[in-house]
Amino acid sequence: MSEIDDGAPVVRLRTIEDGDVDVFFDHQADPLAVEMAAFPARDRDRVVAHWARLRADDTLVTRTIVADGVVAGNIVSWPDDGKQFLGYWVGREWWGRGVATRALALLLDEVPVRPLRAHVVAHNFGSIRVLEKCGFRRDLEEEAAAPASDDGLEELTFVLDA
Ligand SMILES: CC(C)(COP(=O)(O)OP(=O)(O)OC[C@H]1O[C@@H](n2cnc3c(N)ncnc32)[C@H](O)[C@@H]1OP(=O)(O)O)[C@@H](O)C(=O)NCCC(=O)NCCS
Repeated sequence: MSEIDDGAPVVRLRTIEDGDVDVFFDHQADPLAVEMAAFPARDRDRVVAHWARLRADDTLVTRTIVADGVVAGNIVSWPDDGKQFLGYWVGREWWGRGVATRALALLLDEVPVRPLRAHVVAHNFGSIRVLEKCGFRRDLEEEAAAPASDDGLEELTFVLDA
């Protein structure tokens, strides 16, 4: 019996390969994405060094998001100060098609650590929605305890509990 084709891309996660980093570079340089994530674009050397460092660190889970067989973004989970975090980035050509939501759901299967946390700026409605759809909820206590950011942007903390 064939599966129902609802038009949504088929998403999978795999280990990052060298050639993926060129695509990640383009994605992080997209001005609209930079504004959304409030994360400044970096030059190529810094991006290459960043991914080399992440991929060499086996305390991290680093994955390429593949959609319909094409490199569509990345998703990463890392420990910091006894807490576990995650972040993701999807290329603009794939936005609004459920890729980030599916990728996060797949990562949650791979990373069993709970609670799992994500930081997101308050104006990043897409990312907030992705987190909420995967069961994350704002942690107001943790937000209140965090120091105010220098750039004046409000940063929210989302948590997925056990
Ligand atoms: C934020 C981001 C990951 C969303 O990825 P995506 O693949 O488009 O997300 P999905 O298609 O899974 O969308 C999930 C939900 O968010 C909504 N959404 C997506 N982008 C949105 C936007 N810009 N504004 C409002 N809602 C948005 C979708 O409509 C969907 O909600 P629905 O199912 O209720 O309709 C992607 O835009 C991105 O990578 N942006 C740049 C980097 C970034 O912001 N990373 C996250 C840092 S915390």
